[in-house]
This record gives sequence, C-alpha cells and structure tokens, in this order.
Amino acid sequence: SRVQDKMNLYKYLNRLRPVILINISKNTYTNKYTDKKLFTPGPLLTTPRVKNAMLRDLGSRDDEFIQIIKYVQNKLLEIAGVSSLDFTAVLMQGSGTFGVESVLQTTTKQNESKILVLENGAYGQRIQKMCKLLSLDHKVLSFPEERSIDLNVLNSFLQDENNFTHVAVIHGETTSGALNKVEQIGQMVKKYIPDSIFIVDSMSAFGAVPVDFKKGSIDFLVSSSNKCIQSVPGFSFVICSIKKLLSCKNNSKSLSLDLVDQYENMVKTNQFRFTPPTHAILAFKEALVELEEEGGPVKRYERYSNNHEIVRNGLLSIGFKELVPYDEQSKIINSYFYPNDSNFSFEKFYKMLSDRGMVIYPGKMSKASCFRIGNIGDLYSKDMEKLVGDIKQVLQEMNVKIPIQN
Ligand SMILES: Cc1ncc(COP(=O)(O)O)c(C=O)c1O
Repeated sequence: SRVQDKMNLYKYLNRLRPVILINISKNTYTNKYTDKKLFTPGPLLTTPRVKNAMLRDLGSRDDEFIQIIKYVQNKLLEIAGVSSLDFTAVLMQGSGTFGVESVLQTTTKQNESKILVLENGAYGQRIQKMCKLLSLDHKVLSFPEERSIDLNVLNSFLQDENNFTHVAVIHGETTSGALNKVEQIGQMVKKYIPDSIFIVDSMSAFGAVPVDFKKGSIDFLVSSSNKCIQSVPGFSFVICSIKKLLSCKNNSKSLSLDLVDQYENMVKTNQFRFTPPTHAILAFKEALVELEEEGGPVKRYERYSNNHEIVRNGLLSIGFKELVPYDEQSKIINSYFYPNDSNFSFEKFYKMLSDRGMVIYPGKMSKASCFRIGNIGDLYSKDMEKLVGDIKQVLQEMNVKIPIQN
C-alpha cells in the first residue's frame, strides 16, 4: 500500500541519516564555496583549516575551551616576547576598536589624566575621538598622513611639553600603510615622562611586524583576531603590563569595557564575564598553530614583505605612484594614487577586479585619491602576481592608457 511504501521510505532514510550527516559535515564550507581573494587588511583570507576549526559547539565552561584560552594567552605573550610574570594577554569581545577603547577608558581618570595622541591617520584620529567622548583632557600631535611619525618633531615637542600621563600611538597606520617606529617613540616618551602609560595600537602589525616591548617600554598593546594572526573577526586582545593594569582598578567608566575586571575575572574563574566568542577563539587557536608552523612572525613578515614587493613592483611598472615613501612603508598594506586618466573610475575598477575574484581596498585618506592593496592573510606570490596581471587587464578594458599617467 502507499502508506506502507511511505513507511519503508521513511525507515530507509532514517537508516541513511548518519551517512547523510557525515557527508554534510565533510562537505565543509570551503568545498562548497570558492571565496574571492581578499587583498584587504581584515577581515581577510583565512585557511580552510582555520574555518573548519569553528565547526564545533564548545560550552564556555568546558575544560577543553578553558585550556584553549590558556594556550591562546600564552602564545600571544610568546609572540610579544614578554614574560607572564610581568605581562598578561586580556581577550576582549568585539572588534579592535573595542580593545583600544577598553584600554583608554580603563587606564584613565577624568580630571587627572592627560593624554598625548600621536596621530598620522584615521586610527590616531579615532583615539582622539574616544578621548573627546570620554571627556579626557588630551592633546593631539598631528603628522602628515602620508608619512610615518617624525621622531625629530616628536623629540622637540616633548622637550617643551611633557605634562602627560598617557601617550597613545598607532603602530602600522592602516590608513596609508605607513609604519611608525614604536620602539623609538616609546624610548623618547619614557625619557621625558618616565611614569607615563604608553599605549600602542598595533592592530594590523602585531604577529608579523617585529615589536620589542622592553625597548619601547610598551605598557599596553592592542591587536585583533583578524589581522596578522590570520583568523576570523570576533575579538581583540590587549597585551598589558600587569602592574600598570592593576594600578587602574576601579577606573573604568564602562561595565563591558573594564579591562581590569575582564582580567581579574579570568584569573579567578577561567571565564569571560560575558558570553565569549567561542567559535572565533577555536579558529584563533588554529591560526596560532598555523603561524608557528609557518615559522612564526619572522617568516610571516617575510611572506607579507614578498607579497608587497610583487604587487609594488608590478604596479610601479604599470606606472602607478605610491603614497608613502618606500622606507616608511609597513609591508602590510600600501596605498597607490588613482591614475590621472578620464577613463579611470575607482568604482568600475573595483567592480571589474571583484568580478574576477580579486577584492582590493578603497582608500581612506582625507585628501589624496588612493586605493589600497593589503598583503596579509592567506595570500602567496602567485595571488599577488595574478592581481598585478588582472589590474593590467582591467585598466586595458577600461581604456586607461598604459603606462598610466599621474
Ligand atoms: C591600526 C588600526 N586600529 C584600529 C582599527 C579598528 O579595528 P576594528 O575595525 O577591528 O574595530 C583598525 C582596523 O583596521 C586598524 O587598522
């Protein structure tokens, strides 16, 4: 009968269920979709292995998860080259900005603190905005956005004016691609203001660009999961001097961004105070293992630098001009001027490259018309070579004259 047939079919499908489920889980994200190549500074391209690490649901109180957090914290301190006796790595839910703001608002006191913000781009300006919103007394020392911070100018400034409690600076200014010499800046800051708190936003540099905490007397360094460690977005982390961190207890003007409370709670209970990004942390752990397998930050920076050279040489040979002088570039991301050609339109250029599976990054400069190419993520020589070839072809299709005019 039809009912009997239906019952038999149901029983048959039910018996197949485990097989179907196994095949669904094998047919992972990466087998199913072919993602575009992201030449962006994050979110960026991650490996199938990092994405696959997220295909689990671990409870936040699970011992395995607690051990993973400890692994992640220790590994971050190892990458930073600091001891767990003096430093701690605090993980903070949210993107990189949440990490920066947590440091700023936890370590400062209204009517007592005075922050010097060293600014040469949009991310320094973001710290200025935070100071304003937190009603903190602050001074902004601005530098040209197409250059790294001029140490002579900073030195003269600090000689005259050094009544600051905090100094904040960006490591790799992702706006332009300029790299700031944070160790020399830190040395200078501590020479004139030994007791100050030195804060480094190393969002797009940490994990690849070398950083010496001791040399730079760095007290707080912020980065996030989806930059040079090459994992998915979801949290930021702050490498903090424990002594300086604990001296800021009860300063916080925010519940969720209280860095001391986040730290103390983790030490006491092995738990985040609020729902942790479990999947993003699983992915991050895998990304840290991959970083080690690649040969650590030194080898990773070598790959990024090689990526950078390939794109840069390719684009310069087409006639593009770059914004930041070569010896001030970070190798993480670089800005190129739009061609001076009436047939060029950035929107069209972006779309035509994206249609070929190559996603570049718009500019963020306040004055210059530039686009950016990121060299970080799961990208290798052949990707960079293909990008240069595609850029050339797209320009030809747009009837932009090559070599391009500037
Ligand atoms: C130097 C720097 N600081 C801060 C941020 C902000 O990070 P997020 O967008 O993750 O909040 C970025 C983002 O790219 C950055 O490059």
